[in-house]
Amino acid sequence: MPRLPERHYIHSMTAVSRPEGAAGLSADPRLLGRAVKRIAFDAPTIQRRVRELGAEITAAYPDGDLLVLGLLKGSFVFLADLVREIGRPLHVDFLVASSYGDATESSGLVRMVYDPATTLEGKHILLVEDIVDSGRTLNKLVDLLKARAPRSLEICAMLHKNVAAGLRHQPRFVGFDAPNEFLVGYGLDHAENFRHLPYVASLKQPDTPSVAPSRR
Ligand code: IMP
Ligand code: MG
Repeated sequence: MPRLPERHYIHSMTAVSRPEGAAGLSADPRLLGRAVKRIAFDAPTIQRRVRELGAEITAAYPDGDLLVLGLLKGSFVFLADLVREIGRPLHVDFLVASSYGDATESSGLVRMVYDPATTLEGKHILLVEDIVDSGRTLNKLVDLLKARAPRSLEICAMLHKNVAAGLRHQPRFVGFDAPNEFLVGYGLDHAENFRHLPYVASLKQPDTPSVAPSRR
């Protein structure tokens, strides 16, 4: 395969704080009564960027078999939109990884709960992730997948917090640099909620009053 460009550019963070939008969305029935702190990326912004990413990916793979491998669950919305913007043949499969929880997470113990049935050998593998945070999941998965002799292995992440110190495999395709706060929507969850929001947002703490008292 021809050399891929060094790294596809990352959009500077277009996170915007829009109190009036957030106030409107606090009435969003999908939010379980929670209020939006800020919309990090709204639906049209995401849509535009996904279209660009699709074009970048199409150009990056002029030949060979391309297998787009979605890391569940978080990538499912992004992946569904992304593959429809890729203008070349491809196959789709998924994998499910599980970490052993907080106590052992620092040791990087990640196991595959669902292992893709598709053969990876000799194929271009594009691993699609929702968000890169500590990078532990990716570090481990890339090692596991590389052992299966793909023709190439690249990562496409919708969001990148750029906080991972020990990230051994940088995503080649990134949707947006993300603010270092807990985000939900467009596949991202908090306790399995909010995955179906069409935008990416941070939420106010449940016990935070939406209008802060002016008393000191
Ligand atoms: P990492 O191994 O720390 O990079 O973990 C990445 C995974 O943690 C992502 O695939 C998400 O499932 C989850 N995650 C990390 N940051 C967030 C966030 O801000 N909101 C929701 N999920 C997150
Ligand atoms: Mg995830």
